[in-house]
Amino acid sequence: MTPSAPVRYFALIPAAGVGARMGAACPKQYMPLAGKLMLLHVLDTFASCDAIAHTYVVVSKEDGYIDEALAGARHLAGRVTVLHEGGATRHQSVLNGLKAMRATAGGEDWVLVHDAARPGLNCELIERLIDAVKDDPVGGLLALPVVDTLKRSSPEGRAEATVPRERLWAAQTPQMFRHALLLRALEQAAEVTDEASAVEALGLQPKLVEGSPRNFKITLPHDVALAELHLKGNP
Ligand code: CTP
Ligand code: MG
Repeated sequence: MTPSAPVRYFALIPAAGVGARMGAACPKQYMPLAGKLMLLHVLDTFASCDAIAHTYVVVSKEDGYIDEALAGARHLAGRVTVLHEGGATRHQSVLNGLKAMRATAGGEDWVLVHDAARPGLNCELIERLIDAVKDDPVGGLLALPVVDTLKRSSPEGRAEATVPRERLWAAQTPQMFRHALLLRALEQAAEVTDEASAVEALGLQPKLVEGSPRNFKITLPHDVALAELHLKGNP
């Protein structure tokens, strides 16, 4: 019997969105932040993390920015593969990326799916997630326990009820699952906004691993200043 190959860890970055809520001149992942394009912050972080075997980035079919972005990042050559496989939704972009990775990734290899719009991720957080999940039968994700008092509103925008925050978490990325399980989950799920939801729909319970406030998702113009503060203070 041949010994089975060691399990590998791949990063998959959905970066095929248009950034409608940001309303910038280009998709937000190509905006400069603290002197570097948002997407390059993310790609550099994964490239600097020894545990990650390779990174795949999913861009839209008509993306006109990625070649120039990578031309200015020669150190990433050979470490990043661009897949022009973006879909109409994040769900579809990730699913297309997983299918394109099949040539390289085995079913038992781990895939860490991470939003291009979370440039605050660092290697320490990636390692924390991998250490916590690598022996888990399901997989897991970075998330933050909710600290605010939560209100459910009436249709008129008045506080109707206070929702207990006990055991409530806000999901972040990376979300880490084995390739075969994640592919099956996303193929079967109705439209989801993160990978964990698709895995939950299979009746499984992904592990919640404490993330960091610096790993927030850049969505609106006012998020940019805070992200630059984090990235300039501690890149
Ligand atoms: N994404 C993607 N394919 C899509 C939509 C989104 O790969 N069809 C990616 C985005 O590029 C981003 C991540 O999914 O890295 C999270 O999505 P979001 O923050 O919503 O980004 P956008 O969809 O670009 O922003 P908006 O919803 O404001 O248009
Ligand atoms: Mg979106």
